[in-house]
Amino acid sequence: MQPAAPYRLLEHPLIYNISQHITAPGFHFLLKKHFQAIFGESCGLVLDVGCGPRLNTPAPQGEVCGVDINLGYLRQYSAAHNRTGVLGSADGIPFKNNVFNESRCFGLLHHLPRETALLTVREMIRCTKAGGRVIILDNVWPRNPYVRPLAWLSRRLDRGRWVRREAELVRLAEEAHAGPWQSSRFTYTFIGQEALALTLRKT
Ligand SMILES: C[S@@+](CC[C@H](N)C(=O)[O-])C[C@H]1O[C@@H](n2cnc3c(N)ncnc32)[C@H](O)[C@@H]1O
Repeated sequence: MQPAAPYRLLEHPLIYNISQHITAPGFHFLLKKHFQAIFGESCGLVLDVGCGPRLNTPAPQGEVCGVDINLGYLRQYSAAHNRTGVLGSADGIPFKNNVFNESRCFGLLHHLPRETALLTVREMIRCTKAGGRVIILDNVWPRNPYVRPLAWLSRRLDRGRWVRREAELVRLAEEAHAGPWQSSRFTYTFIGQEALALTLRKT
């Protein structure tokens, strides 16, 4: 199904980049410390699923391969050093088993209905080497909309139609693969938007 007209504008890489600063004010600044804890040890060949027009998570010591369904985003993504963008869908990642040292997705799962999100997590695990890590980062609803009204509104207006509560996201990950997943929830913008990070070490 085609997204509504205002959301179609976001398919332009420049508009997408600008919109992030408006809809998630302060995210570059506030994410730094959390990203250090989550991605500090990233190295080798990294898969970035639903990569968008640029890498918004920290660059690893190594190379990054992005997968996305948007060709315009991929062109911009691939222009950066040590990045390759590949056209493909998250629920059928176009790579063989056990290729990557790490697979990550940031802000992807809330664009996917439950069955597709489940397949996506399984695909990320399949493409990751034993001993490697799978990292899922996604938006979650505020626990209390009255305490974080702007965060709640931004989730309501998000072009991703499947923003989940923390417990739903944890259940989804567990259903895709019975853990152990490590999870941490944090605030990453000045208007109180929160994300959940789920990390799995593949055995
Ligand atoms: C909110 S953006 C996040 C982009 C990027 N990870 C970032 O941090 O800015 C969601 C991305 O997921 C992509 N996407 C949506 N459905 C997808 C699918 N089924 N397979 C791969 N990518 C998808 C969109 O094209 C978009 O680039």
